[in-house]
Amino acid sequence: MKIDKFKVEEWFNKYEKDAVYDLADTCVESLSIEELFEITGTKDKYLSEIFSRKLNYGDIHGSERLKNGISTLYKNQKSNNITITHGTIGANQLVILSIVERGDKVVSIVPTYQQHYSIPKSIGANVELFFLKEENNWLPSLEELEKVVGNNTKLICINNPNNPTGAVLPDDMMYKIVEIAQKSNAYILSDEVYRGLEHNGQISKSFADIYDRGISTSSMSKVFSLAGLRLGWICAKADIINEINHQREYNTISVGILDDYFSAVAIENKDKIIKRNLEKILTGKKILTDWAGANKKIHLVVPNGGTTAFIRYDLPIKSTQLCAKLQKETGVMLLPGETMELDGYLRIGYGNNFEKLKKALEIFSDWLL
Ligand SMILES: Cc1ncc(COP(=O)(O)O)c(C=O)c1O
Repeated sequence: MKIDKFKVEEWFNKYEKDAVYDLADTCVESLSIEELFEITGTKDKYLSEIFSRKLNYGDIHGSERLKNGISTLYKNQKSNNITITHGTIGANQLVILSIVERGDKVVSIVPTYQQHYSIPKSIGANVELFFLKEENNWLPSLEELEKVVGNNTKLICINNPNNPTGAVLPDDMMYKIVEIAQKSNAYILSDEVYRGLEHNGQISKSFADIYDRGISTSSMSKVFSLAGLRLGWICAKADIINEINHQREYNTISVGILDDYFSAVAIENKDKIIKRNLEKILTGKKILTDWAGANKKIHLVVPNGGTTAFIRYDLPIKSTQLCAKLQKETGVMLLPGETMELDGYLRIGYGNNFEKLKKALEIFSDWLL
């Protein structure tokens, strides 16, 4: 299967190792195993549970303990509505490979994670990109979306809260999108990897809870600061999960049992971890918004969820050139909008190391002058 280059990941491969100030990252500062145990308590109990583990394949579709924990992140789901994957990246791929065939129409709402359009394109689907616009606060115009989806779309791909813009769909918009999908009996793949990091503390609805063809993907990476576990999941109606599991048998077998174990422990302590992460995000967001407010060449739609913002800059230079030059001259790494199909914008992550964030933003604004 031929597939387009994954522009964001390739940018990271090329630039991340030399970055002095990495503002391109999307994770809230990751937890160590020790920090995880400090947050969750009873370290000795957990250690003895780990040491006595036999390192076999474990439960093929994920342990009941983990799947039950994940089901508590949704409203109407049980363990048979969930299958465990290799991160959200594995989840998204499995969903698309299970649903999309050559010639199908797929509508992908961009900017987003490139999997959402490049994988269906590689299968031979007719992919339409539906662009979010800054003037709409990065929320979709539903009238336009309805026209693009029409009555022959097989799959709509959405990312909510959105990377890179930080926009969060309000409930009424989500219900309207479901109505639009229903007209063509389309599935909705909702990448909800940032769901739980809404800045007002009100966790968004999941498309898996409000639509019988809604499929939610997520993971431990962002909300739980445990990207190194490489553990994600798909949540949907049981018959959809069974179908996806056919595909899954060919590429997963099972996810590591230690990853499964640590994830279950973290999810059982979700309130504490989310509280820690939201505090960090709100601190970083204040630094970012104060900085943007004081810079005439920068335009920011204040993000309402997730860990990133998508800023517009007033300079006659392509975003890839800007980022390459900025990093070469100052060590500050940003992600160019071009890698997410929108030139003229830059993605900034603000959930990590606030001293560095402040310093890097200062360096960037001096450089812009
Ligand atoms: C929208 C989105 N989906 C999926 C992923 C992949 O995440 P994971 O680490 O869960 O595989 C990312 C990572 O940045 C992302 O931003």
